Amino acid sequence: MKYDFDTPVSRYGTDAAKYASLTGAPGELLPLWVADMDFQAPPEVLRALHARVDHGIYGYGDLTDEDYFRPIHDWYARRFGWETQREWLVETPGVVFAVYNAVRALTQPGDGVLTLEPVYYPFARAIRDNERMPVVSQLVYENGRYSVDFADFERKITEDGVKLFILCSPHNPVGRVWTKEELTRMGEICLAHGVKVVADEIHADFIRPGFQHTVFASICPEFADNTVTCTAPSKTFNLAGLQNSNIFISNEVICDTFKREVGRTGYGGLNIMAVAACKAAYTYGEDWLEQLKAYLEENLDFVRAYLKEHVPEIKLVEPEGSYLLWLDCTALHMDAKALDGFLYCKAGLWLDDGPLFGAGGEGFQRINMACPRKTLAEAMERLKRAVASL
Ligand SMILES: Cc1ncc(COP(=O)(O)O)c(C=O)c1O
Repeated sequence: MKYDFDTPVSRYGTDAAKYASLTGAPGELLPLWVADMDFQAPPEVLRALHARVDHGIYGYGDLTDEDYFRPIHDWYARRFGWETQREWLVETPGVVFAVYNAVRALTQPGDGVLTLEPVYYPFARAIRDNERMPVVSQLVYENGRYSVDFADFERKITEDGVKLFILCSPHNPVGRVWTKEELTRMGEICLAHGVKVVADEIHADFIRPGFQHTVFASICPEFADNTVTCTAPSKTFNLAGLQNSNIFISNEVICDTFKREVGRTGYGGLNIMAVAACKAAYTYGEDWLEQLKAYLEENLDFVRAYLKEHVPEIKLVEPEGSYLLWLDCTALHMDAKALDGFLYCKAGLWLDDGPLFGAGGEGFQRINMACPRKTLAEAMERLKRAVASL
């Protein structure tokens, strides 16, 4: 391995949300919750950021050059066979920001907005905070795997006045990488009922061997014409704190409406550090990403084997993508509050509590495995001890 993912780098005292209020005292909580990684960004990105810092002038930025678009275009064309155009790109300071704006741009107050729960919890907030109506089709959990109940999906759309579907692909937190067939069925139902789609594809670069990510908008021109596609280098290269995402909208009317909505927030700036990092990441970061994925695959093997041998009460929902693992703790027979309290107080683990993700989350916890193996081993050891004490 050319890159080192094994050596822990302390994040205490670095204003990291994941470590907020923690001091690193022995026995303190181990934070494996929010979706960022305990790894440094690729050295190639660090070099680009150093060069930008050394330049010393940090005035307003502008994205007039091709330099910014080209590496993103090439990344998606090469890795996903998706051809984008410069005019489709809207830079925003985050995917959550983009989702909030898309909800406002594409629906009216009171309209139904559909999600498949359990799902990334800011979706529900984007719907509620904008006074739209959350409409939920719950994923079906059978034999350790999640799937869409398409009859329910369509019924919810027709019965609850749905105007927008927020797709999470790959799906956080259940780890599904939707197949082209599944995406096609979702897309066709949406088209048939005049429902627009926001496709949040931020986890697209973390696909496990044997699975393939299909860019929803790449399936056919009709889907592209109906979709806001959210991408970002932030998960892939661990740059979330730099605040940058790239939203692609090929439908001119939707693109203009979205831009106007973003304009109304007053956002017109650009984080020049994020621009430097984004360009370097998509230009030079591929080798790093492939090695990171190999490391994460070993982390997954470790967790799977450890739970099977030492904590069989907790079942790993086998992920097809993403570094977020969804743990089925239902065999512990604790209600949601007791389970969260148990993991927090007894095991000393700061995870994401299942019910946060909405319907179907009860009895589950999400754990972030994007950390050095040593940290993960400590987490598993804590889990084993706590469960053994029951
Ligand atoms: C599905 C999904 N979308 C968006 C985000 C956050 O994106 P951003 O930091 O660009 O707002 C996350 C982070 O966990 C996520 O899992």
